[in-house]
Amino acid sequence: MLVLIKETYDDLSRHTAGMIADRIRRKPDLVLGLATGTTPLGLYRELIRLHRNDGLSFARVTTFNLDEYIGLPRTHPQSYYHFMQENLFRHIDVDPTAIYIPDGMAPDIDAQCEWYEQQIVRRGGIDVQILGIGANGHIAFNEPGSSLGSRTRIKTLADQTVKDNARFFKTADEVPKTAITMGIGTIMEAREVFLVASGAGKAAAVKAAIEGPITAMVPASIIQMHRKAYVLLDRDAASQLTHTFRG
Ligand code: GLP
Repeated sequence: MLVLIKETYDDLSRHTAGMIADRIRRKPDLVLGLATGTTPLGLYRELIRLHRNDGLSFARVTTFNLDEYIGLPRTHPQSYYHFMQENLFRHIDVDPTAIYIPDGMAPDIDAQCEWYEQQIVRRGGIDVQILGIGANGHIAFNEPGSSLGSRTRIKTLADQTVKDNARFFKTADEVPKTAITMGIGTIMEAREVFLVASGAGKAAAVKAAIEGPITAMVPASIIQMHRKAYVLLDRDAASQLTHTFRG
């Protein structure tokens, strides 16, 4: 596990985008796992800039998103499908047939989860998985208590996650209470994992994840078991670390 601490959110976003660009240049048909939320917005802006100004091409890249709300149509402004279109996909040259996001409107959710796992395998597995972290230590929608070996499945959102995500909806009542999420076992099979966190609001979760014990109560702590994990932080997200990560 390599912990990289950058001074500001912009530095963090630029650095993470640079690492991804490097992977794409080395392997143009990279299979890239993507996350939603506020944290990767700067990273996506930077990837778009690299595409426009530096000729970074996503034409052969395949993407798999971590999760999607159940019951929101793709056209809903808060669906993760819509989020990805607006914040990344429509600005780059990714092949629309190589974009995978779980379908939260699928009539048979279990079959959809199974299908999603199969597509990851069919595309050769995920090379690089970007992750955010919830204030309660969740990754994707794997809430505290999720099995560390779990696969893509339906999960009920924790109360805190519903509250945290209510800022994007008019009221907390409108936040879907269930989602399809890649499992922790699924995420751990990615060849590299980049966990990105920014801001003081994430400092306690980051500390628990990388300095605490590995426990299902802090799903992100499983990253300690990954063979090639990077934890990319800004100064504020790193502010509660007491161990060696000062650089
Ligand atoms: C959401 C997503 C996660 C994301 C997390 C943090 O609930 N399902 O994938 O990492 O919350 O989001 P943010 O970056 O907005 O703090």
